[in-house]
Amino acid sequence: MSLVSDRVGGKVALISGAARGMGASHAQVLAAHGASVVIADLLEDEGRALAEKINAEFNDGTDRDVALFVHLDVTDYESWTAAVSAAVERFGTLDVLVNNAGIFTRGSVEDADVDEWRRTIEIDLTGNFLGMKAAVPAMKAAGGSIINISSIAGLVGFKNRAAYAAAKWGVQGLTKTSAMDLGPYNIRVNSVHPGSVKTPMTAGLKRGFGQIPLGRDAETQEISDLIVFLASDESSFMTGANLAIDGGETAGNNLRQDA
Ligand SMILES: NC(=O)c1ccc[n+]([C@@H]2O[C@H](COP(=O)([O-])OP(=O)(O)OC[C@H]3O[C@@H](n4cnc5c(N)ncnc54)[C@H](O)[C@@H]3O)[C@@H](O)[C@H]2O)c1
Repeated sequence: MSLVSDRVGGKVALISGAARGMGASHAQVLAAHGASVVIADLLEDEGRALAEKINAEFNDGTDRDVALFVHLDVTDYESWTAAVSAAVERFGTLDVLVNNAGIFTRGSVEDADVDEWRRTIEIDLTGNFLGMKAAVPAMKAAGGSIINISSIAGLVGFKNRAAYAAAKWGVQGLTKTSAMDLGPYNIRVNSVHPGSVKTPMTAGLKRGFGQIPLGRDAETQEISDLIVFLASDESSFMTGANLAIDGGETAGNNLRQDA
């Protein structure tokens, strides 16, 4: 595959949870539009294989790689600072952070397991905070774009997902607050709220799509196209926004039948 465009040409993007699912798609699509990408994940084999694949596809003909795998546990601040250092050492700068890593857990306040609650908040919310904390020093001089992946569970209530919804709403609040704090450095911070997307995370879920006006779930590429826009200078005046990308699922009650 050859480069699709130069929309994020010259930019360096670090994507957490990029070994598979949506993060892997974001890495591939950002590279296809000219970015150098750092694939950061716990999953070593999948992450390294993806970096090799992207390098084989998008190497610009020189011996300069466009993709790098780094081991990252988003709950560990030292792991984050090491990942940011590796990105800057290899590619010279850091322009874009996609806080994508996440887990999905079940349970209402009544039946959710307390340890699962803590683990969900740690990965899905604290992980974003630690990622921004580690990336900001590297972005401060030249500005940048931070994209925090929330969910529609961070826009409306979500039955039987107490910890997940709390974490994803937290991501929205952290995003808006950080947009205010980091604006003076020209670091933009936006949150993306996908609805149902075909990834390993949702592979086992049994549900219909009647609640979605478009009547289907999303391909990962459809979310990645928004990530490219937010990573690029095309979105240079956007910060603090929460963007639903959900086939209309949060537009209203699609199941209501009024004759
Ligand atoms: N799939 C959907 O329908 C959907 C909808 C809304 C939001 N999201 C969000 O999108 C993001 C990506 O989801 P996905 O569907 O691609 O999930 P996925 O499970 O396919 O991929 C998640 C990735 O995150 C990594 N990860 C998990 N814990 C980690 C940790 N502690 N440190 C580093 N990496 C870690 C995993 O190894 C995996 O590669 C998540 O934040 C998820 O909550 C997904």
